[in-house]
Amino acid sequence: MSQFLITGQTKLKGELPVNGAKNCALKIAAASLLSAEPMTISNFPEIEDTERLLEILRDLGCKCIRQKPHDYKIIPPQRIKKDLNHDLVRKLRASILLVGPMLARFGKVSMAHPGGCLIGKRPIDLFITSFKALGAKVTTTATCNIFTAPLGLTGCRIVFPKISVTATETLMLAATLAKGKTTLVNAACEPEIPALAEYLNRMGAKINGAGTPNIEIIGVKKIAGGHFENIPDRIEAGSFIILAAATKSHLKITHCNPEHLEIPLNILKDLGVKLKVGKDYIEVFPTAKLKAAQIATHEYPGFPTDIQAPMTVLLTQATGESIMRENIFEGRLIYTDILNRMGANIKLDNPQQISINGPTPLHAKEVESPDIRAGIAILIAALLAKGKTTINNIYQIDRGYERIEERLAAIGVQIKRV
Ligand code: EPZ
Repeated sequence: MSQFLITGQTKLKGELPVNGAKNCALKIAAASLLSAEPMTISNFPEIEDTERLLEILRDLGCKCIRQKPHDYKIIPPQRIKKDLNHDLVRKLRASILLVGPMLARFGKVSMAHPGGCLIGKRPIDLFITSFKALGAKVTTTATCNIFTAPLGLTGCRIVFPKISVTATETLMLAATLAKGKTTLVNAACEPEIPALAEYLNRMGAKINGAGTPNIEIIGVKKIAGGHFENIPDRIEAGSFIILAAATKSHLKITHCNPEHLEIPLNILKDLGVKLKVGKDYIEVFPTAKLKAAQIATHEYPGFPTDIQAPMTVLLTQATGESIMRENIFEGRLIYTDILNRMGANIKLDNPQQISINGPTPLHAKEVESPDIRAGIAILIAALLAKGKTTINNIYQIDRGYERIEERLAAIGVQIKRV
């Protein structure tokens, strides 16, 4: 298993360009199955998760061609294999996005139970209930779920009891080719959703209200294939802004969309972080003293759960007692043990809340990367720590951050992949 070796406390300066959004690229690639025509995608991040999805699409019979770096063409097959590769599905929970288009277009798909991960059990009850509401039959065996809709899907009103990003996206994809109207109530509002809907509408779909809690989809017979320019990754941008603030560096985070980070940026300013916000960049200036804060994760446009771990690292350097409350996932605070081993002073008040007392100097340790976002958080902690930190299991970081050691080395980080 490869590792990162990082020497902390080096001076960092320069520009950090942000990649295309992982959590948009995965959805748009899944949407390629809705059409019989090819689709091209630019600003496509080349990371483990997107590679896994392309592997699944190839396994189904799609041609996925890398035309040039970050630029892909996906040619869907006329006839498609109906089973999603079980081993690959276990590596990528987002594979569930494929069930919507495959059910709507081909009438059948079987999918292994998606692996849970460290941040929670990740159930798919919202998907199963919603597909049944659209007229699909779902058979659950010990190893997989088989979804069938031989007569196609019929639109209806779907009220989500919980806000789910991929359930909103997957059902929006399925409803695009269903008969009649589908209304999604209590839908997620993440920016990746209107980006997906805008593309589908350009290809002939009829979707209104994406980006709001109420989305209305009028089913169409088919949609065309076309080009999608991926949006910037707001979570990568947020991770890098926090990296700059935590290391008290002057860094410019470029190729991002600050509008997607309004609440996190306001929270950082309240902490005392000095920022200059441009149209497609955010410049961070060294801040001597950070104030403690009380932060709670929330669905968009609230504070994103995906930057909860990096923000916790920043709060270890804030003066006083901070509170971080994780409201989205039941298991997304366990990485804090690793930070405490590095010298942080974090207490678990209850499974959903921690208190962080700072500032605490951090020191190098041999640690592991539990999941994507805790992984980047631990990498940021290693940049603050005195000495050389070893991070194991860096596949988790590579799942969401492309060539991260090259991009960090370019701003002065001493990091080696071994
Ligand atoms: C998406 O996951 C993102 N992944 C996650 O990012 C992100 O953390 C999450 O949304 C929340 O913003 C992608 O877009 C590929 P949810 P998703 O369904 O859709 C519960 C990253 O690091 N739930 O919005 O899987 C669920 O357990 C990843 O990039 C059910 O109960 O998350 C959670 O508590 C991590 N039943 C809550 O809803 C269901 O059927 C929100 O999860 C589905 C979800």
